Amino acid sequence: MEKGSMDKKTYAILTASQKGGVGKSIVALSLAAALKVAGYEVLLIDTDVANPSIGPLLGLRETGGGYAEIVKGKLKFEDAQVVSQPTGFYVLPAGGNGEPENFSNDDLNAFFAKALKQNFDFIVVDTPPGSYMDGILKNFNEALIITTPEETSVFGAQRLSQIYNKYRLNHKLVINRVKEDKFELDEQKIEQMYGDIAYGMLPEDRTVQESEIKHIPAYMLNRKSLFSLSIDYLCRPYMLRMQGSEEQAIQRGGLGDVKKFFGLK
Ligand SMILES: Nc1ncnc2c1ncn2[C@@H]1O[C@H](COP(=O)(O)OP(=O)(O)OP(=O)(O)O)[C@@H](O)[C@H]1O
Ligand SMILES: [Mg+2]
Repeated sequence: MEKGSMDKKTYAILTASQKGGVGKSIVALSLAAALKVAGYEVLLIDTDVANPSIGPLLGLRETGGGYAEIVKGKLKFEDAQVVSQPTGFYVLPAGGNGEPENFSNDDLNAFFAKALKQNFDFIVVDTPPGSYMDGILKNFNEALIITTPEETSVFGAQRLSQIYNKYRLNHKLVINRVKEDKFELDEQKIEQMYGDIAYGMLPEDRTVQESEIKHIPAYMLNRKSLFSLSIDYLCRPYMLRMQGSEEQAIQRGGLGDVKKFFGLK
């Protein structure tokens, strides 16, 4: 279905982490790329105004403002969203002037109400580190909490999970940069801590660094890498949901399937 052809229900996903630098932006970008490749209309929004990544990752120069200016009512959605190439999905860069902003919940809720009316199949929202404002979580269908296998990151993620439980936001844990290193927390320990929400794993992959220099999402540089196949795995429930298989989309939780997928068990 073409974007804008008729009103449709948009599925809104955010990527989040308590600790910085664990891969929120890379996962958001990869999801957007994979969902677009699968034929869906996707908008990727960078809400990390103090430290935007999506524009730089895609080689977009932020000249005309973005998310920050729309929230402030200085710019219209239609004038701010751009189609990124070669990905073909829409991007709303962070905008702003590099300073952290303190938007009100009312302004943010008005922004997300507008975003959800833009007739996308999926909106993927990249967020700054730390708990994302409680008052606006109701706009999202789901959060992906990103962690690396290090203890500091895994424990921080637990706090986010508690916040999302409190606000009844559906969420899943994704362990990024898995190297199978003996110093990593092993999946069993993480699964014990998180139970069914421990859901996905992404390997450490140098294509990610290559993709940053080339301004092309790693998912698109090599569709057959374990990284890209793991992204496909993460996206499967979203696609099933869009195809109307709601029941199948609510997959069995835990890392069991994904461990097999990684060849671990
Ligand atoms: N799976 C991966 N394999 C290899 N490198 C990775 C992987 N995931 C992330 N990285 C590296 O880690 C860096 C940080 O990732 P990213 O910017 O997505 O983290 P972030 O959580 O969004 O950070 P911030 O908290 O600053 O927003 C990336 O620039 C990339 O070089
Ligand atoms: Mg980021």
